[in-house]
Amino acid sequence: MKRLAIYPGTFDPFTNGHLDVLERALTIFERVVVVLAENGKKRTLFSVNERRDMIETITASVSGANVEVLHGGLLAEYARSAGAAAIVRGVRQVKDFEYEFQMSLLNRHLNPDVTTVFLMPNVKYTYVASSIIREVALLGGDVSKFVHPYVLGMLKQKFEEQREQ
Ligand code: PNS
Repeated sequence: MKRLAIYPGTFDPFTNGHLDVLERALTIFERVVVVLAENGKKRTLFSVNERRDMIETITASVSGANVEVLHGGLLAEYARSAGAAAIVRGVRQVKDFEYEFQMSLLNRHLNPDVTTVFLMPNVKYTYVASSIIREVALLGGDVSKFVHPYVLGMLKQKFEEQREQ
């Protein structure tokens, strides 16, 4: 039976690699909720509303995908209240695995009913990370192959605003 999965992250910004993982997850699960963590430990470039807006816009035509914001609190608890069978995480390289392994086992400790599923994006996105996209875009580099045109526009606008300040 196909079931509900949640796909959590900071998504600052949402990249084509994230979209690839979401679409792969939807080949396994009936519904996938992108869970946008509002209060991560990271300081973000985009506000939670901006990130929500970009994910909603990009996934508007992706059947079975929804977006929700995690306003603090534990992901494992969110998974429980949503009735999620799985947490989806994308892994690009071996170095991602240590942190992902730790999180998945902690989440299992907190909620034994949820299983973390790791998916690999298309190989062309294995070196794409939101942090590097932000840095390259800030320095005027071309990131158009790695983000949706809507996100590209938001990045340009954000850095123009910052330059004017
Ligand atoms: O995209 P990121 O920054 O790697 O995502 C990390 C995220 C948001 C999945 C993680 O920090 C998280 O789950 N935060 C919610 C709070 C929580 O449950 N923390 C304990 C995780 S074991």
